[in-house]
Amino acid sequence: MPDLTINRRALLTKLGGASAIAVLPAEALADALEHELMDQATYGPECSEIDIIKVGRDVRRGAGQLFDKTIVPELYKMPERPTLIDFFKLRFSEPTVSHCLKSAAHALNQGQPERNIMASLVHDIVINLIKTDHAWWGADLIAPYVDERITWGVRHHQALRFYADAETGYEYPELYRCVFGKDFAPEAYIQNAYSQARGHRWYMEARMITLNDTYGFTPGPAPDIDQFTDIIARNWRQPEEGLGFDNSPSAHMWRTLLNPERPL
Ligand SMILES: [Fe+2]
Ligand SMILES: [Fe+2]
Repeated sequence: MPDLTINRRALLTKLGGASAIAVLPAEALADALEHELMDQATYGPECSEIDIIKVGRDVRRGAGQLFDKTIVPELYKMPERPTLIDFFKLRFSEPTVSHCLKSAAHALNQGQPERNIMASLVHDIVINLIKTDHAWWGADLIAPYVDERITWGVRHHQALRFYADAETGYEYPELYRCVFGKDFAPEAYIQNAYSQARGHRWYMEARMITLNDTYGFTPGPAPDIDQFTDIIARNWRQPEEGLGFDNSPSAHMWRTLLNPERPL
């Protein structure tokens, strides 16, 4: 167990300042302190800012964020025929929305092709459903609705994240040193996925996603999803029946996102 200390100023800010704490019941304050220590026990104090991979107590690390009520406490009503934009506005967790929007904004500001912007916009949305091997799940989730190069890029971005590429300026993320440990070596299946991707003609489809990932630059504030309406219209095949109800190979995954409370 690492040595755990509370960053008092950060915790004060998180709880709404000294005046908010003054009126907080003792039990709630004890809970807040315990949560803070649990976060640190899982990731180490240096990782406390990593919103996208945070988990609450009693939730396994690979579980999707929609299944963690400390991250998504409330499920909003969705329209009968939900679109991708509806999911961004009403269903996906705030950390995943913010992360994907910042990545897509970076691609947009760099003047990258729409295909790369679209790939960055959806590259981590599956983290709402599951975090373990999210690139493979994420590719399956979007495959029926996007250009196959976008699917391919999303499928391989997870493996490429572990490997620097000096030619494109991609460096091993500092973040990974605290998430996976200093001497972490990716498992054989990740190494294999990387080797296959490295020699593939679509290598840059995945590499661009890693270059647009927010850990490699200082992102500005997350833009609104409405800023991408036209790009989505041109690069996302929205089913008339709504996501989840078009009988596509991933429709069941969208239905699970719609209703994570369904018992079976
Ligand atoms: Fe990712
Ligand atoms: Fe990402």
